[in-house]
Amino acid sequence: MAYNIVTVVGSIRKQSFSLKIANALAKLAPASLKLDVTTLEGISFFNQDLEAAPPADWLAFREKLQKSNGVLFVTPEYNRSIPGVLKNAIDVASRPYGKSSFIGKPVGIIGNSPGPLGGVSAVKHLQNILPGISGPILGQPEAYLNGVGDAFDDKGELTKESLKGVLQQYLDAFSAFIEKQNR
Ligand code: FNR
Repeated sequence: MAYNIVTVVGSIRKQSFSLKIANALAKLAPASLKLDVTTLEGISFFNQDLEAAPPADWLAFREKLQKSNGVLFVTPEYNRSIPGVLKNAIDVASRPYGKSSFIGKPVGIIGNSPGPLGGVSAVKHLQNILPGISGPILGQPEAYLNGVGDAFDDKGELTKESLKGVLQQYLDAFSAFIEKQNR
């Protein structure tokens, strides 16, 4: 049986490197993991006024997370933090109070950037946000993928061999972590 991993992409840009990385991860994943690449397009703004009768898109996102065996975030960095669409989706999934859809779910985080720092600040912010509402977070290996701008061909396929190796290593560690946490 493969563990079902909701792979949350932190950018809704069509040509998003984060999306391309998530797709590459899904292809490289070992048989033990099935990565469900999930974009955040269409998730309405969180608003406490809507909590009594939540929009269908909130309920669908929450249900997807609840049914998963773990969550893998693949996110860029916006202004030294996570993009607003990602924070919004986390806020949506964290509610109702005390009933976060991330509760008990083991989490992996992969930051990336076309720049030199690999999204490290976004990863650090996620590591601050999640502990109260999620299961354990894989701490090692850390994954800050820098220089991702030249890693893909015109069709969005990963061509940079060094990055492929890094993703493979991360997946191996993440797979072992997921198996341990779901035992
Ligand atoms: C960025 N970018 C960026 N990059 C970085 O390494 N650190 C940062 O703090 C920021 N800040 C930032 C803010 C905003 C509003 C934008 C639009 C962009 C650049 C960013 O890494 C780049 O646009 C990525 O390509 C975005 O990720 P996706 O869409 O390719 O996944």
